[in-house]
Amino acid sequence: MSDLFRSNRHQRIAAITLASFALCLSPHRTLAQSECLACHADKTMQDSAGHSISVDGDKFSASIHGSLQCNNCHADIKEYPHPDHIAKVDCKTCHADEGSKLAASVHSSSKEHPCTSCHGNAHEIFPKTDARSAVYPLNVPKTCGQCHSDGAMATKKGLPSVYPHYMDSIHGNALSKEGLLVAANCQSCHGSHGILSHKDPKSLTFKANIPSTCGTCHAKINDDFQAGSHGHGVAKGDFQAPVCSDCHTAHAILQPTESAFRMQSTPICGSCHKDKLSTYHDTFHSQLGLLGGYVETARCWDCHDAHEIHPSSDPRSPVHPANLVVTCGKCHKGANKSFVQYQPHANAHDRKLNPALYFIRLFMNLLLISVLTFFVVHTVLWLIRSRFDQVKRNSGNGGRHA
Ligand code: HEC
Ligand code: HEC
Ligand code: HEC
Ligand code: HEC
Ligand code: HEC
Ligand code: HEC
Ligand code: HEC
Ligand code: HEC
Ligand code: HEC
Ligand code: HEC
Ligand code: HEC
Repeated sequence: MSDLFRSNRHQRIAAITLASFALCLSPHRTLAQSECLACHADKTMQDSAGHSISVDGDKFSASIHGSLQCNNCHADIKEYPHPDHIAKVDCKTCHADEGSKLAASVHSSSKEHPCTSCHGNAHEIFPKTDARSAVYPLNVPKTCGQCHSDGAMATKKGLPSVYPHYMDSIHGNALSKEGLLVAANCQSCHGSHGILSHKDPKSLTFKANIPSTCGTCHAKINDDFQAGSHGHGVAKGDFQAPVCSDCHTAHAILQPTESAFRMQSTPICGSCHKDKLSTYHDTFHSQLGLLGGYVETARCWDCHDAHEIHPSSDPRSPVHPANLVVTCGKCHKGANKSFVQYQPHANAHDRKLNPALYFIRLFMNLLLISVLTFFVVHTVLWLIRSRFDQVKRNSGNGGRHA
């Protein structure tokens, strides 16, 4: 694997060097930078249309292309005075790989998405490892965000505004506030030149590929996920099963221990497991969470795990009968075999599944009805009687006054 990478890099450098040599050896002479800069270093220089055509010679020579001659790129300039109209520079002549990947990507229109739309000023291009580069990890979100943000060009095309969500996420925070270079930026999940729509099965963000995309960094979690029911489901093509982004979102990822996430995620599991959500809602755990906004109460994954989820019949499942004492015991000190008889998904409406609960509920309802009936009858009788007393008293008074 590493050999392959090394030889690829060598091939790439060899190809670039060959291409550069080929240009140098081509019939026209290369013109020295200083010849061009004699005119173009002038900061006030403009073309006939009023666009600035000045070039900062110092910045250019510090850039990755600083050792090239100007007309290695501006190849149709062969002598002076050069023509007014000069052909667009084609970066592909030296970077064929990036060029062909870009041509097959969502950004394929080279008119709308020239190389410089991501790499910035053509004369100030730096390698991706240089903090001055527009594609240095810390700068990538802003670079992509030029277009993938509110009100920008992408919104016109009906694409979601991504940049602000990303910047508020755990990854965006880690990158922009802590300067953590290894945190995910747009490029880590989407790639750079070969970006495809998430509908394309070859895309890094196609549903089935998302776990391994996140797994390049979160390797252990991906292994756990793959070993569980959800991972098995997705692997065999059941796209009803969730992947990382269904539970965490793709761009607005929160810290899962924070209450903002814990309060949200019961509905997330429950959006697919609707029956289990409603039976959980009948329990004390859920009532605590719902009424009191109580964060410490048991959420779905406190009992089932979040990533390596198995059916309860599987001995690896934390809710397998043999593991319940340990699982409930995480929060209930002294939990024992009889404590764990409690049914976390008790469905009081189902007589067959939960006979005891069913009858308790029935009994409670009957009790409630009889108590209510008693009070209604009592109140009616009381009203009749007090009216009767009043009438009796009034007629007694009437007798006295008359
Ligand atoms: C004698 C001065 C002079 C020299 C030397 C010179 N240029 Fe220019 N260049 C100009 C002027 C003037 C224009 C503006 C033409 C116009 O009005 O559109 C220009 C325009 C350009 C443009 C922009 C063309 C466009 O379509 O807007 C490029 C690119 C360019 N020069 C590259 C070079 C390169 C590369 C060299 C060295 C090989 C060079 N120039 C040497 C005067 C010069
Ligand atoms: C790595 C390739 C490359 C090299 C080397 C290069 N340029 Fe350019 N230059 C470009 C690109 C790309 C543009 C943007 C317009 C286009 O696509 O042709 C450009 C545009 C220009 C323009 C038009 C004004 C502008 O900024 O858009 C001038 C003038 C110019 N270059 C001069 C020079 C001079 C002078 C040198 C040498 C000091 C030089 N270039 C070296 C790629 C290069
Ligand atoms: C959509 C944005 C985007 C466009 C458009 C784009 N690039 Fe890039 N490019 C990137 C990013 C992001 C990186 C950094 C990749 C990384 O970190 O692995 C990069 C890296 C590179 C590198 C360094 C490769 C390496 O592995 O060291 C080269 C060379 C390059 N781009 C050339 C080009 C050329 C040529 C074009 C036009 C054909 C182009 N790029 C268009 C985003 C873009
Ligand atoms: C005449 C050939 C030539 C042209 C045209 C050219 N480049 Fe380069 N480019 C090179 C060479 C040579 C290197 C240095 C290669 C190396 O060290 O790996 C390089 C390096 C780069 C790098 C840094 C690669 C890294 O290792 O991080 C980027 C990014 C890049 N070029 C982008 C562009 C873009 C964008 C254009 C068009 C505006 C362009 N190049 C046009 C020859 C060229
Ligand atoms: C110059 C503006 C621009 C820049 C910079 C840009 N994009 Fe785009 N992007 C677009 C537009 C516009 C589209 C819609 C496709 C089209 O019509 O070209 C698009 C499409 C996409 C799509 C696919 C949307 C779909 O489903 O079709 C993804 C993913 C994407 N961009 C990610 C990125 C990433 C990641 C970066 C930075 C490395 C980036 N873009 C940089 C303008 C841009
Ligand atoms: C942690 C991984 C990750 C990061 C970081 C990330 N994305 Fe995404 N992105 C995804 C996934 C996965 C999708 C697929 C759709 C979904 O699940 O929402 C997506 C969808 C998109 C789309 C919609 C296009 C489509 O295919 O539907 C655009 C546009 C986009 N991302 C741009 C960006 C930009 C710009 C950045 C950086 C500011 C970024 N993304 C950062 C994972 C990521
Ligand atoms: C390029 C590596 C990388 C990729 C790819 C990546 N992450 Fe992360 N992720 C990180 C780093 C580093 C942190 C730690 C940030 C911190 O602690 O501030 C993190 C933190 C997280 C957290 C917060 C939990 C914690 O322990 O801090 C979640 C949740 C998360 N990532 C989910 C995802 C998901 C889902 C995907 C795919 C859609 C993904 N990540 C892709 C590097 C990555
Ligand atoms: C996007 C929908 C979706 C989400 C969200 C989801 N699940 Fe699932 N879950 C499924 C599907 C579909 C299966 C069946 C997978 C298979 O075997 O094909 C499943 C299987 C299971 C199983 C195993 C049941 C069995 O009979 O095999 C458990 C337990 C489970 N999920 C719990 C959870 C928990 C806990 C969460 C939240 C942390 C969650 N699920 C989130 C769709 C979802
Ligand atoms: C079924 C929903 C679901 C899926 C699918 C899922 N997660 Fe999680 N993830 C959670 C929950 C819930 C937590 C919180 C666990 C806790 O607090 O104990 C979590 C926690 C995390 C954390 C924090 C560290 C940790 O272990 O608690 C990271 C990082 C993470 N997930 C990444 C991922 C990645 C990467 C994937 C895909 C391979 C993924 N998740 C798939 C629900 C999910
Ligand atoms: C207090 C612990 C606990 C909580 C909280 C909990 N469960 Fe369960 N869950 C269990 C136990 C124990 C079983 C097995 C017995 C049963 O089916 O009632 C189970 C069974 C399941 C099953 C069937 C799996 C199988 O193989 O039988 C699914 C699916 C499920 N739960 C999903 C959820 C979802 C979704 C949530 C959150 C809305 C949730 N659970 C909350 C403990 C819990
Ligand atoms: C994440 C922690 C957590 C887990 C795991 C958990 N519970 Fe609870 N449970 C609570 C909290 C908090 C309360 C309310 C405070 C209290 O009574 O201790 C509660 C209350 C209860 C109650 C009602 C009050 C009582 O103490 O009698 C029962 C019954 C119960 N849990 C059973 C279970 C069972 C059975 C399991 C395992 C299937 C379980 N719990 C797993 C946190 C948890």
